[in-house]
Amino acid sequence: MRIGVAGVGRMGEAIASRLMDLGHQVTVWNRTSDKCNRLAAAGARIAASPAALAQQVEIVITILTDQDALAAVYEGANGLLSANVMGKLFLEMSTVAPEAEVALAEKVRAGGGTFVECPVGGTVGPAREGKLLGVAGGAAADVAVARPLLGELCRRVEHVGPVGAGASMKLALNLPLMIYYQALGESYVLCRHLGLDPRWLIELLSDTSGAPNILKGRGPKIATALAGGDASPVAFDVASIGKDLTTMVAEARTRGATLPLTEKTLAIVEEAAKDGWANRDGASLPAYWPWRNPEGKRQ
Ligand SMILES: NC(=O)c1ccc[n+]([C@@H]2O[C@H](COP(=O)([O-])OP(=O)(O)OC[C@H]3O[C@@H](n4cnc5c(N)ncnc54)[C@H](OP(=O)(O)O)[C@@H]3O)[C@@H](O)[C@H]2O)c1
Repeated sequence: MRIGVAGVGRMGEAIASRLMDLGHQVTVWNRTSDKCNRLAAAGARIAASPAALAQQVEIVITILTDQDALAAVYEGANGLLSANVMGKLFLEMSTVAPEAEVALAEKVRAGGGTFVECPVGGTVGPAREGKLLGVAGGAAADVAVARPLLGELCRRVEHVGPVGAGASMKLALNLPLMIYYQALGESYVLCRHLGLDPRWLIELLSDTSGAPNILKGRGPKIATALAGGDASPVAFDVASIGKDLTTMVAEARTRGATLPLTEKTLAIVEEAAKDGWANRDGASLPAYWPWRNPEGKRQ
């Protein structure tokens, strides 16, 4: 199948690689063009613009930073929507607000294209292995068209409602993890004076009722960060966590609710970004609060 990936950041590159491994003919475009080099060396075709990419493929995948990135890639000069999109499937996988997906779907449909959103849980490694968790939004018939491809990218795909529902569910899925990162940092503040090995501590915590799955997959990275080490490579950065938290708070407001824990966590993540942590991996975030509150400082 001829598939285009418009935007090959961390997730886009991993998804494109996965599709190439499965034998699809993959065309890529990226705003910063040298990010296409590794994929080109592995056999991907390079398109000169999003419009040129859309022209060459049957399915277009996007997984971009935020709503502004979507606007630029879909609606900018030589954007995806300036091509003839009739009969093409657009699979939009970014983590953004539901209304951004709804607005985009209308524009794609107006040109005769099909639009399915499927934001994903899981990071670069699972994307590379086709083991993401997808929450799809779209008309049932459209999601059925996208399902074979989604099955190649995800270990589990749930159709959660019309376009916009996937975005709502994705924000809901990410919220507890992001608050947990801060909770873990605060937990560590209470016990670090015992001088215990952070790797052992993470293993102990992962054996308790309050433990999320993240401790299984990224426990060693988190322990490294708590010990003052470098949690590279970066898979999902602190800036993206801030973007997700901002979107959650705004989305709750549009629904007449407030999210007090999320707002507080967002404020702390914004402080972390100001302190130079924006480009660190998210797994380093539990180390931020202990770093901000050094041992021995009595209040
Ligand atoms: N990383 C993860 O673990 C993960 C997991 C699940 C979901 N997600 C979601 O997936 C999306 C992408 O995340 P990522 O980690 O892959 O981010 P990333 O590595 O920073 O890549 C972002 C992509 O968006 C492009 N972009 C940003 N602003 C743009 C603009 N104004 N015009 C054109 N292109 C623009 C970037 O192009 P340039 O290269 O030119 O900057 C790049 O291709 C986000 O919504 C994120 O929340 C990420």
